[in-house]
Amino acid sequence: MSRRFNEDFLNELRARCDLETVVSKYAELKKRGNSILALCPFHSEKTPSFNINSSKQLFYCFGCGVGGDVITFIMKIENLSYAEAVAFLAEQVGMDLPPEDDYESKTSSLRKRILEMNRLAARFYHAKLLSDEGTQAFEYLKNRALKDRIIVRFGLGYSPDSWDSLTNYLKSEGYNNEELKASGLVSVSRKGVGSEKIFDRFRNRVMFPIIDQRGNVIGFGGRTMGDDPAKYLNTSETLVFKKGRNLYALNFAKASRREGLILCEGYMDVISLHQAGFDNAVAGLGTAFTSEQARLIRSVSDNVYLCYDSDEAGQKATRRTLDILSSVDVKVKVIVVSGGKDPDEFIKAYGADSFERLLTRARARLDYRIDTIKRKYQIEIPEEKTQCLKEITSLLASVKNRVEREIYIDRVAGDFNIKKENLTAEVDNQVKKASRYKQAKENRFAMEKLNKSLLPGEKSNQMKMMKAEDDIISVLLNFPEYANDIESFITPDDFVTDFKRKAYILLTEAIKRNPTVEPLLSISQDITEEEMGKLSSKVRESKSFTVNKTNVKELCENLKKEKSKLLLKEVKTFDDDTFKATLNKLKDKEK
Ligand code: CTP
Ligand code: MN
Repeated sequence: MSRRFNEDFLNELRARCDLETVVSKYAELKKRGNSILALCPFHSEKTPSFNINSSKQLFYCFGCGVGGDVITFIMKIENLSYAEAVAFLAEQVGMDLPPEDDYESKTSSLRKRILEMNRLAARFYHAKLLSDEGTQAFEYLKNRALKDRIIVRFGLGYSPDSWDSLTNYLKSEGYNNEELKASGLVSVSRKGVGSEKIFDRFRNRVMFPIIDQRGNVIGFGGRTMGDDPAKYLNTSETLVFKKGRNLYALNFAKASRREGLILCEGYMDVISLHQAGFDNAVAGLGTAFTSEQARLIRSVSDNVYLCYDSDEAGQKATRRTLDILSSVDVKVKVIVVSGGKDPDEFIKAYGADSFERLLTRARARLDYRIDTIKRKYQIEIPEEKTQCLKEITSLLASVKNRVEREIYIDRVAGDFNIKKENLTAEVDNQVKKASRYKQAKENRFAMEKLNKSLLPGEKSNQMKMMKAEDDIISVLLNFPEYANDIESFITPDDFVTDFKRKAYILLTEAIKRNPTVEPLLSISQDITEEEMGKLSSKVRESKSFTVNKTNVKELCENLKKEKSKLLLKEVKTFDDDTFKATLNKLKDKEK
């Protein structure tokens, strides 16, 4: 448990830190009627499901289930403990924290102790590097062309070739075994029952302290100078070090005057770049790049130069990282270092000016992807050219923005010396295919979900639900004058099938907008060909069936009834998380 704060203090803090204002610093808000929505900053999504309830000062994301108040929000997004989040907010609005009482928790004091140990360890390793013991390590760094000032700036160090030198030092500074274990600076060996021994985790390695944005030493990377199979050894997860949540050198890079950030793979890449004047370089630290790191980047800069190793693994990772960064709206350009495996080697071989040129020639995401495809083929050979264009065509079909698509179609057509119309037609074809495929997949998914929610022999419930949805859509299509009545009985959420819900929303809106126009025509721009076909099949030429207020109401009630039957099944059959999410949805509806 973290330290407790006085309720009045917290209420005052919440009153001064309006949720909407705070969230708006991290996500773009969209007002929809009474509600405030945002693309959820905690998971990647295209349609906003992050809801802010301003009157209650609460948020909830229907996409990932995260919810709470302004403090929860800051804890999640700034990666802080409760007490740290309170302090963070209080500082922003100029409130003094109430004096600390005795409640300070074990965890938060242990966290502090770990940070202290890390700082002491960093100093210890650094001093060792500069001592006789560290001669070989110092030589190693010199051989890698690092200057004294950069060694000092990055606080590089040396962990002695000993099982207990750091352990003994930290013990002499008053830290006990439990604390040492929690710091990740030591490893534990168990010999027999009850007897355990701790020993230095990092031995005979060059040490890279990892420092967070607030200047805390949160962990270490240690590089072997020999041929130890583990080239780098990193601090394991601790209370203060979480994999995939930090970026190496972000503390320096965020103060850089250079434009954007350079994202590379390794410690040495970053340090070489900084030494060469590119002090906006950061690295992902050996884990596959995470969306948390992407958001961390976005909080500092919305512009990234991706500069991974030029080997195959690096280029594969480039594609993945490109997608992750784009999904949180960070603009990315790609630098491919030629004539060397990584930026460190490149700088060493060709110097800073050459790297500067690489920067100015960095390729936009799509250009990079097209380049990569082109490189695989020998375009002079007609079959290869066709194959290459096929790949590029499907890449272009995946571009959502039509203008961007058009620009690239133009460029590729010119490049390959083919007619623009032909390429456009091919791309359009692919777009249609993809959307048909997606629709089919969605339908299958919806069916599977429903199937799972039903006990054997109860599939008829699902059929009844489909029928109930169809009935409502049919009424809207054929008797738009009943749209108002229908809306007074049901909401879009009463639809289970995504497609029917979308149709319902589009149709009711269209009818309001243009009561005199055939509803399906009004929405034609908003649906796919495929969907247009499905809906057309429900439009009756002559009014072969009649409705009145009473049976419209019956149809609506029927829909609700079938929906609740399905939901009850879902609640029983699904796992705990789905169960809770479903319950929340139901509760929300009751409001
Ligand atoms: N890494 C790691 N553990 C390993 C290997 C790599 O954590 N066993 C991480 C390190 O952060 C490293 C980065 O992945 O800096 C990139 O790895 P690699 O390209 O192999 O190393 P370089 O950065 O090129 O290191 P060096 O130049 O020192 O060989
Ligand atoms: Mn390297």
